[in-house]
Amino acid sequence: MVKILVVHGPNLNLLGTREPDVYGEVTIKQINQALKEKASKKNVQLNIVQSNHEGEIVDLIGKATDNYAGILINPAAYTHTSVAIRDALSASKIPAVEVHLSNIYAREEFRHTSVIAPVVKGQISGFGLQSYILGLEALIETLKSRQ
Ligand code: DQA
Repeated sequence: MVKILVVHGPNLNLLGTREPDVYGEVTIKQINQALKEKASKKNVQLNIVQSNHEGEIVDLIGKATDNYAGILINPAAYTHTSVAIRDALSASKIPAVEVHLSNIYAREEFRHTSVIAPVVKGQISGFGLQSYILGLEALIETLKSRQ
């Protein structure tokens, strides 16, 4: 079965109570449940990880090539700062899709730049929980077209 690594970056463990005016009231548990339901309909297996640590995310991506077909990632604040995560994705031989709950282009100026976007297949931003579902679908379609 096709395996996909899902990575939630820093502070996404706090969803539900974290700035609900920006991120809504959806919890990471609800996002993961919705992703798993979509994945099982598509016959795909997910491994879902949340980390607040840049190096841990770099390690996960670095090891992903041998075990997964693709990566779905919300790099959260590291989107705007992490050359290390960008380089890990760039070095990886499997495709990745970047997702954001909020529309990063409609927020503070420092969020308008993603250092990740140039090295992923594409980015989905602004649709809340649906960003993840759309991102997963886009990743699965990308994997099919590569077969
Ligand atoms: C985010 C947007 C980032 O700017 C922010 O730092 C996050 C969440 C989003 O999903 O909207 O933590 O990635």
